[in-house]
Amino acid sequence: MLRIPLLLLVLAAYTSAQELVQPGRIVSAKQNGNTVELRCDNARATLTWYSDEIVRVRFARDAFDAERSSAVVLTSGRAISPHVEETDTSIRYSTAAITVEITRGTSRLRLLTPDGRVLTEDNAGFGVTWQGSDVTSHRTLFRDEHFLGMGEKTGPLDRRGRRFVNWNTDFPAYGIEQDPLYVSIPFFIGVHDSLAYGIFFDNTRKTVFDFGASSDGRFMSFSAPAGDLDYYVCAGPTVADVIRQYTTLTGRAPMPPRWALGYQQCRWSYYPESEVLNLARTFREKDIPCDVITLDIHYMDAYKIFTWHPDRFPDPKRLADSLHALGFRLVTIVDPGIKIEKGYPAYEEGLRDGHFVTYPDGTLYIGEVWPGRCHFPDFTNEKTRLWWGRSMRALTDAGVDGFWNDMNEPAAWGQNIPDVVRFGFNGLPASMREAHNVYGLGMARASYEGALKLRPNIRPYTLTRAAYAGVQRYSAVWTGDNLASDEHLMLSSRMVQGLGLSGVPFTGSDVGGFIGDPSPDLMTRWMNLGVFTPFFRAHKHYGGKSAEPWAFGRDAENTMRLLIRLRYRLLPYIEAAFRTHERTGLPVARSLAIEWSHDPMVYDWRFHSEYLFGDHLLVAPVPSTDRRADVYLPAGIWYRFGSDSLFLGGSIHTVTAPIADLPVFVRAGAIIPMRPVGRSTSDSIGDTLELHVWEGGAITAMVYREDDGISVAAPSASTLVEHNPASRSLSWGNTEGRGSFRARVVRLVQHGSNKEGSASVNGVSVPWTVSTPKQRSLTVPFTPQTTITWRD
Ligand code: GLC
Repeated sequence: MLRIPLLLLVLAAYTSAQELVQPGRIVSAKQNGNTVELRCDNARATLTWYSDEIVRVRFARDAFDAERSSAVVLTSGRAISPHVEETDTSIRYSTAAITVEITRGTSRLRLLTPDGRVLTEDNAGFGVTWQGSDVTSHRTLFRDEHFLGMGEKTGPLDRRGRRFVNWNTDFPAYGIEQDPLYVSIPFFIGVHDSLAYGIFFDNTRKTVFDFGASSDGRFMSFSAPAGDLDYYVCAGPTVADVIRQYTTLTGRAPMPPRWALGYQQCRWSYYPESEVLNLARTFREKDIPCDVITLDIHYMDAYKIFTWHPDRFPDPKRLADSLHALGFRLVTIVDPGIKIEKGYPAYEEGLRDGHFVTYPDGTLYIGEVWPGRCHFPDFTNEKTRLWWGRSMRALTDAGVDGFWNDMNEPAAWGQNIPDVVRFGFNGLPASMREAHNVYGLGMARASYEGALKLRPNIRPYTLTRAAYAGVQRYSAVWTGDNLASDEHLMLSSRMVQGLGLSGVPFTGSDVGGFIGDPSPDLMTRWMNLGVFTPFFRAHKHYGGKSAEPWAFGRDAENTMRLLIRLRYRLLPYIEAAFRTHERTGLPVARSLAIEWSHDPMVYDWRFHSEYLFGDHLLVAPVPSTDRRADVYLPAGIWYRFGSDSLFLGGSIHTVTAPIADLPVFVRAGAIIPMRPVGRSTSDSIGDTLELHVWEGGAITAMVYREDDGISVAAPSASTLVEHNPASRSLSWGNTEGRGSFRARVVRLVQHGSNKEGSASVNGVSVPWTVSTPKQRSLTVPFTPQTTITWRD
C-alpha cells in the first residue's frame, strides 16, 4: 500500500526537477586569484573579476560553453584578488568597488556597493532557473527602478514595463514600437536608490529581456534558449561610470575621419556617373556644404559585390577623382550575399577557399537577396574577414573612401536563414542560432580591418545596419528603414540615445525618413535634428520623390543651407565630443539620464526624446507640425542657442519652435569652439578659431585639438581651454603634441552680456565689440599661455 505513493512522490520530484532546475546549495568554492569556482548541487559557476569594477558571473548546468565572445575585448584582471569573508550562511568577495555575496543554501547572488547598498541581486524566491536548455536570471525589480540601454530598441527611453527580444531583423518601414530590429545589444543599465549598475549578458542567441512587463513588479529577468548564463556586472555607481566600465569591456569607437562627420547625401540610387556628378556640382553651385555622396546598390553589375556596372559607371576611378576634386568623398554600399555565378571572382574565390557558410552535411547554404541566389561569407572566421578585406581593393583602387554594410542581419528574402546553418568561429564551430546576432558585427569588422589594411594610417569609415555589442570598435550604425513621419523623427532621437547608452557613439537615422515623402517642414525639421546627431545623412527609398535639400522649395532650401552650415561651424565641438568618447566611453548624443539619472522628469514621456549633444547643447526634438513646445530643462542655467535668452533649469518651459529653429539650449558656462564654413571639410578652416562662451554656471574645461582629421596617427596640437564664469576669465595653456595650430587668432564671443565693460589679455586691455543685444566679442592672437579676463 505504502509503496505506490512513495514511487509517485519520487516520480513527481523527478518530473519537476526536469521541468525547473535551480543551482541548489554551494558544495564547494575555490578561489584562484581573480576567479572563484563554485560547485553547486545542480550547476557550476564562476565569478571572474575583470577589474575592481567589473565582475563576470557564469552559470552552467554542466560544462561551460567554448569562449567565443565577439564583444568582449578586455582580458580578465589577473592581478585582482578579492577579499573573502565567510559566514555560516554566505560567502562574500569584495574589491574596492563591488562586493559579491553568495548564499550558501541557494547559490543566489547579491551585488553590493562598498558601503553595503544593494546594486542588483537574484530574486529571493528563484534566481537562476533552467527549463530544458532555456536559462533565465530572475532579479529583484526595485521600486522606481528605471532601465536604460538595450541598444537601438524602439519605444520609450525607460525600458521598464517592456519585454525585448534580441534577434537582428530586417523590418522595412518598422513601427514605432517594433521589436526586434536590426541591432542586438544585450546590455542594460538599472537606476534606483541613487545608484546605477549595468549588466551585459554575453549570449548571442535569441535572448529575451523582461523589465517587469508582466510580473506585477515581482522581478525582472533575462533569458537565453541555450548556453551559459554568462553576464558581466558593471558596478557604477553612476550611469556615466557604468558606460565607462562597459566600454572598457567591449571597446570604444576610434576617431572617425572628419569628413564622415560632415553632411552626407544618399538615395537608392544615384546613377549613372553623370547624375552623380550633377548632384555634386549642384551642391557646389548652391553653396550647400556636403562631404559625402553615397552609391546604393545600382552601382554594381547585377548587384554583384566588388563589381561596377559597366554602363552606369564605366570608369569609377574617373568618377572618384572628379568627386575628390570637388571636395567630396565617395561611399559605396556592400551587401554580404555573393551571387552564384560561374566566373564571378568573389564567387569563385569564396568557393575555392571555403569562405561560405554550409549546412551540417557540408553543402553550401543558398539564400536569395538582391543578386538572386547567393552564398554567404562566414565572417566569424578570420580567414574570411581577411579575404573580404582584400576583396575591397576593387573599391579602394577605384577611389572609394568608405563602406556602407547593409543587409547583414543577415537578410535573405523570407528572412529566416535556417538554424542548422554552420559557422566556423575560428575553429569553435556553432550554428546559426549563435552566429545570427554577430553576423553584422563580423562583417563590419571585416570591412573596418580591411580598409585599415588597404590604407594603413587612414581612419576607416564604415557604416552598418546590423550589429551586436562591441560594434563601436568598427563602425557607425544607422537606424535602418524608417518612415517619413513625425513619430519617426521623435523616435530616432531615442534610438540614438539607446545606442549611445550601450556604447555606440556614431549613430543617426535617415534624415527625412527613408520610406515616404516628407513635407518641406518635416524635411527641414529633420535636417535641423540631423545637425545635432552624430551621423548626419539624408537617404531615400527608390520609390520616393527627390529629397535633396533643394527639392522642397526655395524657403526650405535656404533654411537647410543655413542648418547644414551650422553643422560645419560646430565640427570642432563635435570632434571634441568624439574624443571624449575615446577617453570616457560617453556617447556623443547623451541621454539626459546620464547626467540627471535620478531626476524623474528625464524619464517622463513628454521629455524623454531630449538629449545632450556633446557636453553643453541640449536638443529638444519637436514634431514638424508644432510651433510651440514644452521642454524640460534639468537643473542649472540654460540659454536658447541662437537667441541667448536665459532659462532657469529644473522646470518645464513653453518655448517657440519655428521650423528653422529647433529648440536647442546651451548650458551656462559652456565653451563651444566653432570654425568657419567651407564647401566641405577638405576646405581650409582659415586661421580664426571662434571660442563661444556663455555667462554663469560652473567652471568648464575642454581640450581644443587640431589634427589633419584623416590619419590614424597624425601629428596634432592641443591645448586645455578653461572658462571660469565666476572670475570672468577664459584661458588656455601650452600647446601639447607634435603638431602646430593652423588657427592663429582666437575670436572670443561672449554670450549673455552686451555691456561694453573692459577686458584684458594677459594684463593688456582690449575693447569688446558688442555684436547683438546679448553678445560681445574680441579677437586676440592664439599664442600659448593666454588669459583673458573681463569686468562689466
Ligand atoms: C536596405 C537599406 C536601405 C537601402 C536598400 C537598398 O533597405 O536599409 O538603406 O537603400 O536596402 O540597398
